[in-house]
Amino acid sequence: MRVDDLVYFCAPGRLIIGAGARAQLPPLVARLGYRRGVLVTDTFFSEKTPWVAEYVEAARAFGIETVVFDGGAPDPTTTLCDSATAAVRGSLNGSAPDHVIALGGGSNIDLAKVLCLTLPTGRPTRDFVKGISSSDRPLPFIAMPTTAGTGSEATPGAILVDPENATKVAVMDNSLRPQVALIDPEFTYTCPPNVTADAGIDAFTHAIESYLTLDSSKFDRAGSVDPGYSGRSSLTMIFAREAISLCARYLKRAYDDGADIEARTGMCYASIYAALSYGSAGLNAVHGIAYAIAGATHRSHGTSNAVMLPYVLEELSETRGDELLDVARIFCINVVDHQQAIRELCHRIRSLIEAIGIPTTLEDLGIEKASLPLLINDALGVTRLAKAFPVPDTKAAYARILNNAYHGDLGKSLGA
Ligand SMILES: NC(=O)c1ccc[n+]([C@@H]2O[C@H](COP(=O)([O-])OP(=O)(O)OC[C@H]3O[C@@H](n4cnc5c(N)ncnc54)[C@H](O)[C@@H]3O)[C@@H](O)[C@H]2O)c1
Repeated sequence: MRVDDLVYFCAPGRLIIGAGARAQLPPLVARLGYRRGVLVTDTFFSEKTPWVAEYVEAARAFGIETVVFDGGAPDPTTTLCDSATAAVRGSLNGSAPDHVIALGGGSNIDLAKVLCLTLPTGRPTRDFVKGISSSDRPLPFIAMPTTAGTGSEATPGAILVDPENATKVAVMDNSLRPQVALIDPEFTYTCPPNVTADAGIDAFTHAIESYLTLDSSKFDRAGSVDPGYSGRSSLTMIFAREAISLCARYLKRAYDDGADIEARTGMCYASIYAALSYGSAGLNAVHGIAYAIAGATHRSHGTSNAVMLPYVLEELSETRGDELLDVARIFCINVVDHQQAIRELCHRIRSLIEAIGIPTTLEDLGIEKASLPLLINDALGVTRLAKAFPVPDTKAAYARILNNAYHGDLGKSLGA
């Protein structure tokens, strides 16, 4: 408990976790009264796994008809959302669906979230990037993540590439949080190492970034009575701490050995716990800068985040020193000398990122030094994230972070 907290905590309507839990979905959908659904996925799942056909058949036995759309792709664009809307509306032949299910990583989940809004009306996706009104009633949504993970199964947003925008854009509202988040760790067993690394470091970033973010008492809710994100509280920090600890224990193990069931399960818990933290607390500089990097390089979401994480943590050594020491303790670092402990933590995290095959400098990502001022500007343009970064001068901090990340200068401000 913290006396100043202003808790506004949001979660999926139902959270189901367990190996084989997917078998529970058809009877649950029937119990919820749905009869005609759309399942959004990609061809990996429809062609290489039995999960899509198994669900469709089992649901049919309960009187539920399902249209499958398997045109999902990594990092969905607003254009993909619009073409998927047209294709699914065509397949539905004028009949209205009463629910949408996503099977896949964050990309398929985000595409499905948008379809919850666009299928009933056929309106373009860009309409909803500006905001959602109370008369926009999205279809009920069920998310089954297959990576561990983005946590999109617990968040209010869909993150999209907009061909006309330098950074990623968001369609965001609490009404887009899934009614059911079903996490079956068995879905993640087939993730190849690069997907395990990208998704796992994303979960770790969510946990640590939301643990250090702006307090709920200081968060600008912009007058919203139903904010999607509203700053960290003692409640979100419980989930963040546990997620950090699970990532410290299991991320490298899951990457090294995809058949390590304990590590796979541990990362599924890490991912959803991180989402229960950041899904209400929100994020800040790592993701804000990563959106600009992804816009410039088209590198994956996890990689764009990972490359920035150690340098952002160093920048927080003054304003979030106590919390960084908490994290250092989780990593079993000796914290007698505080500066040294934080420096070691930043280096330890960068080594972890390197050990799971992700570049650790902007130079290694192929970014030109001359483009740094533009990147700083684009990152500051993601204002909802920039204003949640708990430092006195965000512009100067972003410039330092990006310059340090360019060549990989780490720990200078901590006496390295
Ligand atoms: N809405 C949110 O709150 C939120 C949060 C974080 C990230 N995101 C978004 O999520 C996306 C990244 O999602 P991701 O990291 O889960 O990856 P992804 O969904 O982009 O999938 C990457 C690739 O891995 C494959 N894959 C997924 N699960 C697999 C499995 N079990 N076995 C084999 N292959 C599998 C997919 O088919 C795809 O080809 C980004 O677009 C990012 O912006 C959204």
